[in-house]
Amino acid sequence: MEKINEYIENNRERFLEELFELLRIPSVSADPQFNDDVRRAAEMVQQRLVEAGAENVEICETEGHPIVYGDKIIDPSKPTVLVYGHYDVQPADPIELWTSPPFEPVIKDGNIFARGSADDKGQFYMHVKAFEAMVKTGNLDCNVKFMIEGEEEVGSDNLGIFVHDNKERLAADVVLVSDTSLIANDIPSISVGLRGLSYVEVEVTGPNRDLHSGVYGGAVGNPINILAKMIASMTDENNHITIPGFYDKVVNLSDAERAEMAQIPFSQEEYQNELQIGETYGEKGYTVLEQTSIRPTLDVNGIWGGYTGEGAKTVLPSKAFAKISMRLVPDQQTDEITELFRNHFKAIAPPAVKVEVRPHHGGQPAVIPTNFPAYQAASQAMVDTFGKKPIPQRGGGSIPIVALFEEALGLKTILMGFGLDTDDIHSPDEHYGVFNYFKGIETIPRFYHHLARQ
Ligand code: BES
Ligand code: MN
Ligand code: MN
Repeated sequence: MEKINEYIENNRERFLEELFELLRIPSVSADPQFNDDVRRAAEMVQQRLVEAGAENVEICETEGHPIVYGDKIIDPSKPTVLVYGHYDVQPADPIELWTSPPFEPVIKDGNIFARGSADDKGQFYMHVKAFEAMVKTGNLDCNVKFMIEGEEEVGSDNLGIFVHDNKERLAADVVLVSDTSLIANDIPSISVGLRGLSYVEVEVTGPNRDLHSGVYGGAVGNPINILAKMIASMTDENNHITIPGFYDKVVNLSDAERAEMAQIPFSQEEYQNELQIGETYGEKGYTVLEQTSIRPTLDVNGIWGGYTGEGAKTVLPSKAFAKISMRLVPDQQTDEITELFRNHFKAIAPPAVKVEVRPHHGGQPAVIPTNFPAYQAASQAMVDTFGKKPIPQRGGGSIPIVALFEEALGLKTILMGFGLDTDDIHSPDEHYGVFNYFKGIETIPRFYHHLARQ
């Protein structure tokens, strides 16, 4: 380990510069305008895997953005780690709210600012550099397979197909992912849960054309007003979701499990201050940590229609739209929830409008146990580098492929993320700590070390 740490220390500047190069590519998977950039990012990942010492490195084509695969099998009798990450990023919009341009990474106050710095380029690249350090110092003691995809931020549909079609090639003992957060830089944690997702777009149509809001206003249903009412009716005064059947499959935690969650360090005041909100606004009867991990949600992600340009235009619009996400928890099923939403949305629409519900992507929730060898290896690795035992914590975000790793490959996933919830992923000024980047690069080899010795 001495040698590995020395190697990391001696290559610090290059490890940062290489990440910067990757961050300069706007690999936005959601927007076809960036398709060439997404491919350039895949090619860079391919090249970097080769340089780091991986073999069988290949860009695997899909119906959408490519997957980069590479491996190094040192000894089939040793454990095999499947490293998963994503080189695609969320759109940078609204760009005007960034302090520095999203694809021109800079370090300010110990943080790397760029779209994708924490989610997930900075985090998956730690694995490439940790692997390089192990290979180049002759300290790799597990087999490794890398699978880095370009469609995580749009639901990983093609990766699902790839996983089903490549079960043999992807055979491993455990999946290792860094795409989640620590509780704090001095409070290490391992994520043991992810929420699922059902994401839909709705279209509400009123009159057959935009109308003068004076001439027709008062008689003709305004689709934006109606959509607002419909959305408002989907949560009650306790912020409980009113879609019939929505909670039917939710697994409730035992009092003991909830008591354990309540032990996780959390300051309501700091949380509110950091977000500059007067108070939190969640489902009644649950703590913030519960509201953001073990309870499902319904949120409007965007809403539009009518006139939103300069000044005022008096118009009664023909159409209104919204993008709505529902975060799901075990044992809610994405497709079932989407269907429940669709039926309910149609049922509550007044005859004055027609509605359409278009499902986008989804993902199943996941829970990960703590009583298996690879978890112990991850926990021990963090003890080595943080000097503290990591706290198992369920997270609120989604990584759709994790449930499929279990279902299709029979593999458990270790979610050993090094970000912070305050990294502003998906937001302007996304950043990732230089501390976190190197902490990850140091901790990952410890994981392999402990796994190989079990
Ligand atoms: N890395 C995130 C998920 C995440 C972040 C999990 C923080 C836990 C803590 C991932 O890239 C992501 O953003 N996933 C999407 C899902 C997808 C289907 C668009 C999400 O959660 O919105
Ligand atoms: Mn991510
Ligand atoms: Mn993301």
